[in-house]
Amino acid sequence: MDTILTGIRVNGELTLGNFLGALVPMVRLANEHNKTHNINIFVPDLHTIISDVDGDLQKNIIKSVKYYLAAGLKVGGNVHFYRQSYVPAHSELNWILNCVASMGELNRMTQFKEKSEGKESVNAGIFDYPVLMAADILLYDARYVPVGEDQFQHLELTRNLAIRINNRFDEPIFTPPEKTEEQVKFMNLDGGIRIRDLQNPEKKMSKSSRAENSKIMLSDDPSVAAKKIMSATTDSLGNIKFDMFNQPGISNLLQIEALVNDVPLQEVISTWAGESHYGDLKKKVAESVSTFLASFQEELAAISEEAVYELLETGEAYVNEVADRKLEKVQKAFGLR
Ligand code: TYM
Repeated sequence: MDTILTGIRVNGELTLGNFLGALVPMVRLANEHNKTHNINIFVPDLHTIISDVDGDLQKNIIKSVKYYLAAGLKVGGNVHFYRQSYVPAHSELNWILNCVASMGELNRMTQFKEKSEGKESVNAGIFDYPVLMAADILLYDARYVPVGEDQFQHLELTRNLAIRINNRFDEPIFTPPEKTEEQVKFMNLDGGIRIRDLQNPEKKMSKSSRAENSKIMLSDDPSVAAKKIMSATTDSLGNIKFDMFNQPGISNLLQIEALVNDVPLQEVISTWAGESHYGDLKKKVAESVSTFLASFQEELAAISEEAVYELLETGEAYVNEVADRKLEKVQKAFGLR
């Protein structure tokens, strides 16, 4: 059975970008494929500590699992939830992959460049981040890894490492994840998703942005979120069109409108084609986002902490066995066993 796998770091509250770009597509895929695929959803707690954690890490972990459940993920059967640090094989495989990945290829990672730019001192975890990510994926032979567009380069690296290792031995060891074009097709999206910063739509919406108006957090009061949408930066072309290059602000609003209402982007684009009043579009998106947040927050409050712990412990017992088997195969191939 093929595996679909993903994770979201838990440094603090999630933005609407993380939610719509990664969590919602995963929930949709998981519910569609849970009879025919393993669905691995994990909390990358080790990836989380590469940077400061806002609030209590344990609380953030529990909350992040609740997010999936509140977003409608159906549990049971082939669906496995787990914490990365509770499955030691991730760190073990990380080291072995470190001995295959090159400094040059890690130096080229855009996320590393962005996170280290202008900093006097950068921890080695930030540099090695994509290799641990490769271990997360390859341990389970995951073919599909739903992530936002900013992670595609890390997926390509994972694929390259798997192919490089397979070529070294007589028998293939890993299933490389599919190419990003195939991932996008599998996710049934028009392209990778990148929700933009509301004030500066050239950039992605990011947790680390200081300007409050630039990002919508899942914990935002719905009326506050609506105001943020109303103050979003647009352009002066006066034409509602999906064109990320020339009209990123307007395109971002169309994208958000489609995702929060779970309708195809093309449908939203057609509805607004030829319109020129940006205020009307903003009002509609503000309403959609606040309705969505109100119902999401209600769902979230109804999920107990005990239910989350039970889910994690069951998942960890299962995946530790799968991961240890794969790790042993790798250790044997490298002569360590
Ligand atoms: P993280 O926490 O940085 O991002 C989590 C997910 O959110 C997506 N994302 C966005 N999507 C659309 N628009 C945005 N503005 C936006 N901001 C973030 C990211 O693409 C990501 O999918 N490295 C992963 C965590 C991870 C992982 C893995 C994922 C660790 N190991 C193995 C898959 C498989 C990450 O970026 O987390």
